[in-house]
Amino acid sequence: MKIALGVSGGIAAYKAAEIVRLLQDRDVRVQVIMTAAAQEFVRPLTFAALSGEKVITGMFGSAAEQPNLDSAVEHISVAQSIDCLLVAPATADVLAKFAQGIANDFLSTLYLATTAPVVVAPAMNVNMWEHPATQANLETLRRRGVTIVEPDSGYLACGMIGAGRLAGPEQIVAATLERLGVAQDLAGETVLITAGPTHEPIDPVRYLSNRSSGRMGYALAEAALRRGAKVILVSGPTALQPPAAAETIFVETAQQMRTAVLDRWEQASFIIMAAAVADYHVKNVSPEKIKRKAALELQLEPNPDILADLGSLRHATGKRSPILIGFAAETGDLLENARSKLSKKRVDAIVVNDVARAGIGFDNDRNEVTIVIPTDIIAVPEAGKLEIAQKILEAAIRIRQQPLAPP
Ligand code: C5P
Repeated sequence: MKIALGVSGGIAAYKAAEIVRLLQDRDVRVQVIMTAAAQEFVRPLTFAALSGEKVITGMFGSAAEQPNLDSAVEHISVAQSIDCLLVAPATADVLAKFAQGIANDFLSTLYLATTAPVVVAPAMNVNMWEHPATQANLETLRRRGVTIVEPDSGYLACGMIGAGRLAGPEQIVAATLERLGVAQDLAGETVLITAGPTHEPIDPVRYLSNRSSGRMGYALAEAALRRGAKVILVSGPTALQPPAAAETIFVETAQQMRTAVLDRWEQASFIIMAAAVADYHVKNVSPEKIKRKAALELQLEPNPDILADLGSLRHATGKRSPILIGFAAETGDLLENARSKLSKKRVDAIVVNDVARAGIGFDNDRNEVTIVIPTDIIAVPEAGKLEIAQKILEAAIRIRQQPLAPP
């Protein structure tokens, strides 16, 4: 997800730095655009350092750079690449330009060129805010579908008291993501997610493992971050880049995964075990590379069942927290197997993958799952893994709202 953050000239321009950070915590890429006036209040370097992206400061690149066609049409490429245009703080001038369709700098041109949703968070002097011209412009924008995050009342930088203070950064970010259909219902929650396979060594160069790309677990991490959660991702070996805003712990074996999870489980309000944990490890791991021979026998010992251990630990507390969700990759008798896991492992839901089906599941960006909870079966039709992840989180939140079943 990528958001263009327009910063216009006002004392509150520095508060946009906090907005960049909060959006990044939710795994959103931020492209900052500063008006000329904003650059009088904050240096573009501040936003470049925070966002990790070039800051757009004008229509034709800086005078020091050679102006070129790329920068002349950049407003169109930015317009097409963003999921939302957020302007915070939005001055009276920016609101007037947007309302009238005046396009004489990068930000106002971008507003006309983008079809993405637009959110503005105004900040200005109380008289400017209350002026009929400003209010008429706001009404025009509102009618056009622009989301307006109303300013707060209080002491203003100009010494006056009244409406015009930029709304809080958290409130602006929440309003923006809600406008994009991303509920902020996990704000303040910690979600622990396991992902990927485990590797169980045979010798220094060989291991036993399961087929798992880690994509479903990583999508869950991304989706939970977007909804405002703190995410702890315990990941087996994968080729994926974890979301920067997640606390990621890399592990190799089931035993290491168990230690990482048990060290942290009490911090979490939701635990989703999407990892494909190997069921066995090799009893006597060879310290030397095993030479090729006619036949090789390996003695395997069962790995601890981390999810079942969590189910027992939670049962002992007599509480419903954390909500525990497991996955099951099945090739037959999907629902019966899921129901039996639900009660054996004492968990709240099992997400079943039919791994016998081609085109979804393993090594694929798409999936189709069935969420089995004690009282219901929720079929989630084929979709991208991020969308499936959102459905799983919605089910998790719903489970928590249900009354506790009698023991
Ligand atoms: O019993 P089965 O392996 O099918 O259960 C799958 C679920 O249990 C997954 O959520 C998986 O992450 C978890 N699991 C575990 N520890 C194991 C095996 C599976 O936590 N040793």
